[in-house]
This record gives sequence, structure tokens and C-alpha cells, in this order.
Amino acid sequence: MKIKKLKKKHSEILDALIEEIEKNLVDKRWWLPINEVSRKNFLNDEWCYFLGLFDRRKLIGASCLFFNEHEYGASLELCSHTERPVAEIGRCMIAPKYRGHNYLYKLNKRLLKIAKKKGIKNIIATIHPNNQASLHSFAHIGAKLKATTIKNEIYERNIYTIAL
Ligand SMILES: CC(C)(COP(=O)(O)OP(=O)(O)OC[C@H]1O[C@@H](n2cnc3c(N)ncnc32)[C@H](O)[C@@H]1OP(=O)(O)O)[C@@H](O)C(=O)NCCC(=O)NCCS
Repeated sequence: MKIKKLKKKHSEILDALIEEIEKNLVDKRWWLPINEVSRKNFLNDEWCYFLGLFDRRKLIGASCLFFNEHEYGASLELCSHTERPVAEIGRCMIAPKYRGHNYLYKLNKRLLKIAKKKGIKNIIATIHPNNQASLHSFAHIGAKLKATTIKNEIYERNIYTIAL
């Protein structure tokens, strides 16, 4: 397994992985629908930093560090006393057949290092309260519950921060 930064040339395989993740969700409320502004900017370095996990040439997982408040501004408003600058870790995904090996943890540990190097002081993350795999994975990287919210009326979310 290899972890690599995703580039424009990976756009199609990222879309295919997202489609596979969305088709196989245990609960649709665990994954916020992707809006067009966000999707258009997934591989834009000024907007975010997407890491991919590869099994040879096959993209089997990904996780993203977002620098743009379009992504996390509303969540951040609910987290008082959070030192800036902040970035969000989101769009965490591992292909169903590759789950159970803590691969998300490995991707996110790498993203935390990258965030720290960029001078980020806090990471924000939002997770559905029943999404056990995601909750466990983020607990292992030090996520602390800060608030709860409901996005778009149906997407319940716990909001976590990780101090770097
Ligand atoms: C979230 C996701 C990326 C995690 O993938 P992963 O790294 O393979 O996760 P694992 O299956 O290795 O599980 C991680 C941890 O959760 C635990 N876990 C997994 N499923 C669990 C369950 N149903 N109940 C309790 N614990 C569970 C594992 O035991 C492991 O914990 P441990 O390290 O303490 O042993 C993957 O499940 C996924 O792609 N889900 C669909 C998309 C999604 O929900 N994304 C998150 C949006 S916030």
C-alpha cells in the first residue's frame, strides 16, 4: 500500500471511488452530499490537499485536508475557543473490500503531519454519531468532541477538534 497526494490526473479514479463509497453506504446520513463548488475544487491545491491510498495502481482510499471555510465555516462557528488557523479533515473513504485495517488512521496521521507543517493549529472534523468506524478512527488521532449539530435538517453530526 502506498499513500500519495492526489493530483489532477487522478480525478477520474477519485470520482469512481466516491461513487463506490456512495453506493455502499451502510447509512446514507453518514455521507454529506457533495456540492458542485466543493467537487470542482477537490484537486485544487489552494482549496485542499487530498491524500490517496493505492494498492499498486488502484485507488482504494482517500482523505482530505480542507483549507477553505466554504467546507467547515458553519461547523467552526459552533466551536468556541478554537485557536486558528484551522483546517478540516473530511471526505474520508476506504473501499468496502479494504476496510478493517485502520487505513483511514494511516491516511489521517499523514494529513495531521502535513497540517502541522503548514502552521495549522486545529483540525476540525464532523462525524455522524453512529458511524462507529469513523468515530473510532478519529478517537485514535486525538479527536475531542466540541459540539453537535444537524446539517441540512437530516445529517446529524458530532463536531470534533484536534489540537496540533
Ligand atoms: C470510515 C471509514 C473510512 C473507515 O475505514 P477503515 O479505516 O477501514 O476503518 P476500520 O474498519 O479499520 O475501523 C476503524 C476502527 O473502527 C472500529 N470499527 C469499525 N466498524 C465498527 C463497528 N461497526 N462498530 C464498532 N467499531 C467499529 C474498528 O474496530 C477500528 O477500531 P480500533 O482501531 O479501535 O480497532 C470507512 O468505514 C468508510 O469508507 N466508510 C464510508 C464512508 C464514511 O462513512 N466516511 C466517513 C464520513 S465522516
